[in-house]
Amino acid sequence: MKNSGKVKTAVVGLGTIGSVHADWYSQIPESELVAVSDVRKDVVKRVASKYDVKGYTNYEELMENKEVEAVTVATPNFLHFPVAMAAARSGKHVAVEKPLCLTLDQADQMIGEIKKAGVVDMYTENLCFAPSYRLAKEIVDKGGLGKLYLCKAYESDDIVLGSEGEKQMMQSSWYLDPRQSGGGKLMSTGVHAIQYIRFMLNGAKALRVHAEIIDSIGAKKPPRMEDMALVTIRFENDRVGEVHTGYYMTGGSDDRAELYGDRGTIFLDLYRRNEIKVHSHVGYGAIGQSMFQPSEGADRGWSFPIPDERYDLGYYHEQRHFLQCILEGKRPMVNFDDGRATLEIILAAYQSHDTSETVRLPLK
Ligand SMILES: NC(=O)c1ccc[n+]([C@@H]2O[C@H](COP(=O)([O-])OP(=O)(O)OC[C@H]3O[C@@H](n4cnc5c(N)ncnc54)[C@H](O)[C@@H]3O)[C@@H](O)[C@H]2O)c1
Repeated sequence: MKNSGKVKTAVVGLGTIGSVHADWYSQIPESELVAVSDVRKDVVKRVASKYDVKGYTNYEELMENKEVEAVTVATPNFLHFPVAMAAARSGKHVAVEKPLCLTLDQADQMIGEIKKAGVVDMYTENLCFAPSYRLAKEIVDKGGLGKLYLCKAYESDDIVLGSEGEKQMMQSSWYLDPRQSGGGKLMSTGVHAIQYIRFMLNGAKALRVHAEIIDSIGAKKPPRMEDMALVTIRFENDRVGEVHTGYYMTGGSDDRAELYGDRGTIFLDLYRRNEIKVHSHVGYGAIGQSMFQPSEGADRGWSFPIPDERYDLGYYHEQRHFLQCILEGKRPMVNFDDGRATLEIILAAYQSHDTSETVRLPLK
């Protein structure tokens, strides 16, 4: 247990999402951002001077900085493993962006290393922290839907086919190199949907996976660079998850979920307000930080609770949760075990695509 009330933080990888993490680390009350790292010199210089912190172009040197207590890893996927291992070996608490890593063997080594080092491990799946998605979890946990048996999650967007954007992505991004990314749309955004479904089902054991994957909507790509995937997951105790992900969503990002229980239904929609529409036969009372304070009976039938919209996507909350866990000596609610389980489902989906068969878990 740590008592100073603040954790000295660092971010490795300062691209799209790493810059969001660095910014939140400069504002979260439990954080003191002290260092950043990226291989791009100009980026390190700019970000380090913006926050007046130490900058490194070599993450291994950052790990030698004894002041740093916790590191968030926001590099391209293939570097999650070496950077997280280096952080844990240096005795630093470590949060890793999705996907946790590229193979189950790497995941096992990472879990082994954080246990050996006795550090806190966080798998930063922001959907589990997005206020409306969290609110849904509280409603389900209060029994508002009865027994939850079907969770569908949608994670799609629209790199317009044949556009300059698509061509640029095809040429320059690590996302389009399977050795660096580990896969296409399923690894990149389907990963969110899988962990959210697992979260809603309290980490239920997945028994089998079936996938329909299309590789070839866009320009010709190497194998494993799928454009769309529809994955069904059978969980223990008669529950089913359905993951929809692809580049097919024209008109903007699609972040939705549908939760069906035997006594109620929830529709979630991060991008098209109102994000949460609840139908409950039994009601669920007032919930968490929601501005929604239902009057007598207003939480039965259809209701439209409005969460605090300022932090809708959950990045602030996930990072703060990580630091609070460090300060309180707790394991995060979403950790490396979840990252491993999510990765296993993705790898099973790829196997299902390769063999046109349903794949049983655990994978050998
Ligand atoms: N949770 C989310 O919503 C979300 C959103 C986007 C990306 N991500 C994940 O975050 C990670 C980064 O994605 P991104 O979109 O920000 O990518 P990006 O390409 O924008 O940024 C990656 C950064 O890592 C840097 N980098 C590369 N090698 C490095 C090294 N050896 N040491 C330090 N830095 C290095 C790059 O220079 C770049 O600045 C990926 O794993 C991705 O899956 C998560």
